[in-house]
Amino acid sequence: MDKPPRKLYIKTFGCQMNEYDSSRMRDLLASTHGLTPAREPQDADCILLNTCSVREKAQEKVFSQLGQWRPLKQRKPDLVIGVGGCVASQEGAMILRRAPYVDIVFGPQTLHRLPAMLDKVIAKQKRAVDVTFPEIEKFDCLPPPGARGVKAFVSIMEGCSKYCSFCIVPYTRGTEFSRPVDDVLYEIHGLARQGVREITLLGQNVNAYRGARHTDNGGGTMDFAELLHHTAAVDGVERLRYTTSHPRDCTEAQAAAHGEIPELAGHLHLPVQSGADRILKLMKRGYSVAEYCDWIDKVRAARPDISFSADFIVGFPGETDADFHATLDLIARVGYDQSFSFIYSPRPGTPAADLPDDVPMAVKKERLAELQKRINAQAAAISARMVGSTQRILVEGVSRDHRRNGQNAAADTTNGQRAPVQMTGRTENNRVVNFPGDLAMVGQMINVQITEALPNSLRGVAVRAI
Ligand code: SAM
Ligand code: F3S
Repeated sequence: MDKPPRKLYIKTFGCQMNEYDSSRMRDLLASTHGLTPAREPQDADCILLNTCSVREKAQEKVFSQLGQWRPLKQRKPDLVIGVGGCVASQEGAMILRRAPYVDIVFGPQTLHRLPAMLDKVIAKQKRAVDVTFPEIEKFDCLPPPGARGVKAFVSIMEGCSKYCSFCIVPYTRGTEFSRPVDDVLYEIHGLARQGVREITLLGQNVNAYRGARHTDNGGGTMDFAELLHHTAAVDGVERLRYTTSHPRDCTEAQAAAHGEIPELAGHLHLPVQSGADRILKLMKRGYSVAEYCDWIDKVRAARPDISFSADFIVGFPGETDADFHATLDLIARVGYDQSFSFIYSPRPGTPAADLPDDVPMAVKKERLAELQKRINAQAAAISARMVGSTQRILVEGVSRDHRRNGQNAAADTTNGQRAPVQMTGRTENNRVVNFPGDLAMVGQMINVQITEALPNSLRGVAVRAI
């Protein structure tokens, strides 16, 4: 290789865990190889694809993306192309056979070995594959994360040991393991010192967290609810979120935390998948609809104004109209204001893939549209009710419209006075609010009175800084 790589481009498919992993890869390769971000793949010397295999066509999507990058490699033979994430974990060296221009294949638990793999490619012109599960070692080998704005993700546990009958994740990301408490809190303190004000604790089942406590702090383990209290107490942390919780791991202390911790945002994402007990059993979810609703009620009792979102799957094998209507009934009962809803997609190697996929695609599509219509209507009603209320928002920056219109926030002046800039932030229930303000507000919690509800955002006016 003539020149060492300088510019890195990462494309990320899938969930927030993948986004978090991609940002850690950026930090890591900046510290070991001085790689800086490239805006476009054609400007990069190293391109990484962080993949997701939760739903079908994942493999095709990966190979089609790699196919688009192939001409870049032909033009620039030194270009290093790597594939990571869950598809890499599933397919391993097969990726090199199908796409011989790929140099590196790494899994979600081996991304910390990227520097050594890159060195092998650069120095020995040899391709490198490592999709093993060395678990916690990953975090010990990563540099402290750099802040990008006022919000940050912090992964506190990885993997999944639930083995829902439809899901590939336990096979691609390994079983559940939690990071030690001190490591998690050290990372949060570091981010807060860099100006981060909102932390989202991340994990496939974040509330399954049981982190080892250092022997100097009494040893043993700390559970999720206790970690919420410790995170909220970190100087600079003004708002706290977490995702994704599993109903099976909910505890009384977690529900109570929503009434005890003012920093904890009034929103909970609690995947349910179906409102029919028969389907939940076939999915091996490990709870009934009544048990799920008990947790919703407990959290709502602790924080009456809380909003809920969930994941849903429609068209699971054997799902009848009556089962689907039970899901619609649950949606009305809980009053969700957001959903992540998917058509069931058989994943090879999972137990559900052996069940007859017997709901016709047209019916699956109708059910998905109906479910989304109901939740969108509930969301619109919630937004409409928010008009006139005062919401506490974290100011994140200049609004997207303001940026799109090409207005230069810092230079905007009218008659020598600085013109108001459209600023943006989010409410506790995750709605975007745009309002006139100024750049000095970034990173502050501001009270905003809501004046208008639009389909995808709210408008408001700042009341006063708090
Ligand atoms: N840990 C979470 C929970 O409590 O269920 C879910 C994590 S999973 C990676 C994210 C979502 O993808 C699931 O909640 C489910 O709705 C969806 N999903 C997973 N496997 C799927 C499949 N085979 N077909 C359709 N959707 C699927
Ligand atoms: Fe998948 Fe169920 Fe775990 S949906 S990530 S196996 S909780």
